[in-house]
Amino acid sequence: MKKLIFLAIFAIAAAAPTWAGEGMWLPFLLQKMNEAQMKSMGMKMNAEDIYSLNKGSLKDAVVQFGGGCTGEIISDKGLLLTNHHCGYGAIQDHTTLETNYLRDGFWAKTLDQELPNPGLTALFIVRMEDVTAAATAGIMDNVSEKERQSQIDKNLEKISKSTTKEPYQDILIRPFFEGNNYYLFVTETYKDVRLVGTPPSSIGKFGSDTDNWVFPRHTGDFSMFRIYADKNNRPAAYSKENVPFKPRHFLPISLDGVAEGDFTLVMGFPGRTNEYLPAAAVEQTLNTLNPVKIGIRDRALKVMDEAMRKDEQIKIQYSAKYAGIANYWKKWMGESLGLKKSDGIGKKQQYEAEFIKRLNAQPELKSQYGAVLDQLNLNYKLLKPYAFTRDYFSEVTRNTEILSLVNTISGLVKVAENNGEKGFADRKAKTIEGLKDFFKDYNADVDKKIFAGLVEMYFKNVNPDYIGEVALKQAKKYEQNFSKLADNLYQKTILTQPEKLISLIEKSNSADFVTKMKNDVAYQFGKSMMDGYIEKVDTKIREIQPEINRLQRKYLKAQMTVFAADKTFYPDANSTLRVTYGQVEPYQPRDGVTYNYYTYLDGVMEKYIPNDYEFDVPQKLRTLFDTKDYGIYGDKNGKMPVCFIGSNHTTGGNSGSPAIDAYGNLVGLNFDRVWEGTMSDINYDRSICRNIMVDARYVLFIVDKFANASHLVTEMKLVHPKIK
Ligand code: ARG
Ligand code: GLU
Repeated sequence: MKKLIFLAIFAIAAAAPTWAGEGMWLPFLLQKMNEAQMKSMGMKMNAEDIYSLNKGSLKDAVVQFGGGCTGEIISDKGLLLTNHHCGYGAIQDHTTLETNYLRDGFWAKTLDQELPNPGLTALFIVRMEDVTAAATAGIMDNVSEKERQSQIDKNLEKISKSTTKEPYQDILIRPFFEGNNYYLFVTETYKDVRLVGTPPSSIGKFGSDTDNWVFPRHTGDFSMFRIYADKNNRPAAYSKENVPFKPRHFLPISLDGVAEGDFTLVMGFPGRTNEYLPAAAVEQTLNTLNPVKIGIRDRALKVMDEAMRKDEQIKIQYSAKYAGIANYWKKWMGESLGLKKSDGIGKKQQYEAEFIKRLNAQPELKSQYGAVLDQLNLNYKLLKPYAFTRDYFSEVTRNTEILSLVNTISGLVKVAENNGEKGFADRKAKTIEGLKDFFKDYNADVDKKIFAGLVEMYFKNVNPDYIGEVALKQAKKYEQNFSKLADNLYQKTILTQPEKLISLIEKSNSADFVTKMKNDVAYQFGKSMMDGYIEKVDTKIREIQPEINRLQRKYLKAQMTVFAADKTFYPDANSTLRVTYGQVEPYQPRDGVTYNYYTYLDGVMEKYIPNDYEFDVPQKLRTLFDTKDYGIYGDKNGKMPVCFIGSNHTTGGNSGSPAIDAYGNLVGLNFDRVWEGTMSDINYDRSICRNIMVDARYVLFIVDKFANASHLVTEMKLVHPKIK
């Protein structure tokens, strides 16, 4: 009986094509794989309107912004919309005590006032192709992963050479479906991207870390840039002669908002997901790896928070670092919670049982794939102690600044030892530049406390066999009292003394520098931790990981064969352009609690705490709220919409992605996910996975009514798709 019920449940789940919401799809395969379903969900466009080689389409309005985010073009003059947190670095670069754009916001009144940002890029996808056959040509069965990869590398080089492209374009070839497929992208990267405008942080970062990853949300997380091109509309380095870029397509902006059930599409550059892991690997993430990472960051964040509260200078130095560490700390907690709540492991186990059952029914498939899951499980078991130490090591070193510094300096020591006097001299300037940047925001007391806490955890929890000799001896000398050890190291080392360290690098020859560093106690300690890890752990991972990669590839191929009739498969995110689609919908985070799909300016006012660094509200916005002065942007009930949620499958990298309605108009700007649903990177569950978007009308309202930058709105195309 039980079995029957289970089979019935599985049949339903498996028979429905991958349900609305789940999936990060390839734009050039939409017609074949998704168009029918998208239309059945309410989409009024064709696949050709999203990706086309013959005409301007949505993909021509979506860029990878600054390498890690997404942005979209919203005018025929190259005006670009992205998140405030994606523009943050650029905004910060232009921020000084006199021009505090982070605090006060910034709006260029004319093109002349738009601010250049060296190094900031916008990458367009010109076209995509499936090159799987050519990429995997000539690979023999049963060759090692290394041989396979070297054959593939040769193939890819050949493909790159023979692909036609313009001189100003680039070619990118990436593995998909765990390396079963290869797709090629022709790209164009614009290098003159200027800051046009940003709201103050009290709007763009409203709610800060407290509200991060959480709904209900009230953040106006947006900023605006403009792409500039040479006079032929091609990519060019910054120049006064450059002109606003003319896009092949830009997004009209809808003034009609969204209602529950509305079709939404999000297009962007999601970074990384792991949807096809076996249950054993998910179990490892949940019970072993996430707790390690969360625990270490917990300790580091507590030290930082305490210091930041006491000292304004430290607060300025550490707030960006704090936000960076806290972002994934909070995400992993949500991920673990969601995996438990939705029984992510149990679901994977059921899926695997069905997989085995079907294999057993087909002798040919069984002989080919029958062993793959067992082998994978075995290898994940082998990997476990090393993966545990890997995450421990990487979290301890990245969160303890002096250990990161040892890593940098050890690079320079290597150069000094191997590349001769000239090689060492050549490397000096760059290292010193990096050090100056580093020390600007460095406080040795804060770092020392973090060191004592984190290194103590490392020595308590990591197998001593994996820790270097010198470091073990030091710990023993101080009887595992890491505060005392830290006092000693930080007192004696040159690494925490900017002037001395920089002058040492500037003035010494390679031999002296090497000797000096090798005699530095903190350098010795950090280097020994590093060496122990590399010798004993990293080498092992390099042995096991290729085997896991091979088996994951095989396992995915097996799944795609066995479930071919029941399920449409999508490739894991890998920072390439994807389309995800779903609906505007509420959700139930807990029993008895339902979150509406919308928030309003009223909620901003409910959260308002005068002068608080997270929840302050600018005077002007309060006045606009009091007088309900929403212009043409308020909804029909006279309220000002702020954020909404939907069942679009997004991840990190989708920040700044356009949320697009059934007709191809911009309705919102993606910037986050809800806490309960962040496990969508491993196991998407429609009931609790939601992405968070800021309403396009709120963006326009802030630009027009709050910032008085209506000249920008004039540049855009505003539409009313719902009023016919
Ligand atoms: N959670 C979002 C993302 O992963 C927003 C992060 C920026 N905001 C913050 N408060 N740290 O990028
Ligand atoms: N805030 C994330 C980003 O910067 C997007 C949120 C998510 O991970 O879904 O990409």
